[in-house]
Amino acid sequence: MSVSVFAPASIGNVSVGFDVLGLAVQPVDGTLLGDVVTVEPAEQNALAVVGAFADKLPAEPSDNIVWQCLLLFNQALEQAGKEVEAVKLTLDKKMPVGSGLGSSACSVVAALVALNSFYDNYFSEDVVLKMTGQMEAKISGSLHYDNVAPCYLGGLQLMIADENIITRTLPGFDDCYYVMAYPGITVSTKAAREVLPTQYSKTDLIQYGQTLAGFVDACYRQDKAQAFGQFDDVVAEPYRENLLPGFANAKQYLLNQGCLAAGISGSGPTLFAVTDDKALAESAAIWLKENYLQTDFGFVHVCKADNQGARCISR
Ligand code: HSE
Repeated sequence: MSVSVFAPASIGNVSVGFDVLGLAVQPVDGTLLGDVVTVEPAEQNALAVVGAFADKLPAEPSDNIVWQCLLLFNQALEQAGKEVEAVKLTLDKKMPVGSGLGSSACSVVAALVALNSFYDNYFSEDVVLKMTGQMEAKISGSLHYDNVAPCYLGGLQLMIADENIITRTLPGFDDCYYVMAYPGITVSTKAAREVLPTQYSKTDLIQYGQTLAGFVDACYRQDKAQAFGQFDDVVAEPYRENLLPGFANAKQYLLNQGCLAAGISGSGPTLFAVTDDKALAESAAIWLKENYLQTDFGFVHVCKADNQGARCISR
């Protein structure tokens, strides 16, 4: 039996919730923006890496995060007294690394969900979610669920400071388009975290709390004007925008054109713009293609929220 799982791209932080908000997205044209991992029985454990961004990953399989997911998963099986089978994993690396689209989360979630599915969902969703967090912490140096949770569970996720809950699904804005522009350059999450201050002022602290609370309230009331009217990121954007050539100019242009909001997706360099107007989303995408991309690896997708999260695409 072989099983393939797709795990979607996500917007970490969603500007107003540093490390605590994340939204899974999918292109409206049906493109699979995310990674696929296939698990099949084998004589001995093996990993193959294919796909558009395969050559950007470490050559040594044991350095690959998908391989590390297998080790973690097998260790959990052994601890639970379950017999471990040899498998071949194939990672279809469709996502650019260091893009701010939750690329590592896509690989981790696709791998762990595919392995769990291979074992007939032996572990509960909570256990697998904790494993995804453990892997993400290993990769980026700090435990944050804002990419792995939406990637796994879909939709708009709010991280809760209770390890028995971890995340709650918020009512998102399903009529909104999220225009995702990846400029084709790399920004590592670790480096983007290092540029952040270690302390924030009382003014910033109050603004952060008020903005996030206002956003969550607006989600429950489906009030787009409030949700995106006060969409300022005081925690990361002011310090990270220098890492993103043309970001400030692009954001200003998009807001002038009537987009509801724009910000940095995760730790960047991907920019996202929000609008509920399809024609505006399409024209913003064309403008971003012409003005925000830096290399041939860049791309722009008009997306909507992906409320499904990781899913089996073949079995
Ligand atoms: N919340 C994380 C950050 C997202 O902004 O550093 C990146 O994975």
